[in-house]
Parts: sequence; C-alpha cells; structure tokens
Amino acid sequence: MEVSCEEKRALLSDMLVELQNCTRCPLHLSRTNVVLGDGNPCSEVMLVGEAPGRQEDLQGKPFVGKAGQLLDKMLASVGLSREHLYITNVLKCRPPNNRDPLPEELTSCKPFLIRQVRLLEPKVVLTLGRYSLWTFLSRGVKISQVRGKLFYAEFASKKLIVLPTFHPAFVLRNPKYEPIYKRDFQKLRELIDTLNLRLSQD
Ligand code: URA
Repeated sequence: MEVSCEEKRALLSDMLVELQNCTRCPLHLSRTNVVLGDGNPCSEVMLVGEAPGRQEDLQGKPFVGKAGQLLDKMLASVGLSREHLYITNVLKCRPPNNRDPLPEELTSCKPFLIRQVRLLEPKVVLTLGRYSLWTFLSRGVKISQVRGKLFYAEFASKKLIVLPTFHPAFVLRNPKYEPIYKRDFQKLRELIDTLNLRLSQD
C-alpha cells in the first residue's frame, strides 16, 4: 500500500522524537541536536552522508556547513536542489571532533536508516563517502574503484540502485577532484531522467 507524502512526513517526525530520546550509543551524551534528514521525503532519490558535523549538530539539519555548500553547488550544476531529494546520514548524531564513526555507533544507528529506506522507498541512493558506501555495498570497498558506477543492491529488503561518490568534505580538501565529482552528479541526473524518477513533493 502506498504511503502518502503527508504520512511519510508524520512518520519521520515521530522517528525524530524517538531519536531525540535515543541513548543507544554514547554519542547522545555529546550531541546538541539529532540530525534525522531533510529535503523531500517523497523523492525517489536519497543522498546518504556520513554523520553530522558541527554546524549540523547545532542546527539539526544535514549538510548545512561548508561540505553542504559544495553539495548544493554540485546539485545546482545539474538542475537539482534539496527540494528534489531526501538527504540523510548513516549516523544521526555528531561524533566528537568529527572523528570517523565507530563500528558500534554504526551498528546502533543502522536501524534508523533501515526504517528511513523502508518508509521512503528510494529507487536511487547516492552514497557520499566511504561509510555510506560500505553501508549499502560492503565494508572495505574502495571509493576510487567504484565511484560513478551503478550497483544493484538490496538494503532494508528493498532493491535499490546505488551510485557511489566522494564525500564533499574530501573534494573540498582535494579540489582537483571537483570535475570528476561534477561528472558523478551528471550521472545522477542522467539516471533520474532515464528512469523518470519522481522528484516532486506530492
Ligand atoms: N558531513 C556529513 O557526512 N553529513 C553532514 O550532514 C555534514 C557533513
């Protein structure tokens, strides 16, 4: 049975309340805000990053810092914006000093991503960075070998197309990769157009 956009929004709000009370891992002790996700829950395209950074923790929204600005620029270069996509992270709370997620944090938080995917049923997931890539494909896969390629995967008992790319923070640190990064977003655009994916709010 199809879940309406309104119901999806309501269920995500419930999930946010649940997460605000979540103590499954020690990250709850240092967080200011939980960051569940943002954008259009009715889109068939989901972007998944790693974990909230400082700005995201302060504002409760994903990708609102410098990495988010680059992400917005890449999206705009192919005629997309946040209203067209749903954006979330593998971890919903900020690791102190933006350190890499720990295995136990990934395990504790995974059920929430599973529930988001089951509820929103994206057809395409753009993974940003290796922790997101490893979550949807398998741990240890090298981004440099798979980025820009399409993978047919199953996650949360849903069949998805996974398009791996770099994390925007990596591209900010290594600007020579920006042209390749742009190509990955062009690939996303081609996929959206070829599959005629839904980007609208209703
Ligand atoms: N980096 C991420 O992976 N996610 C964010 O929301 C912000 C920075």
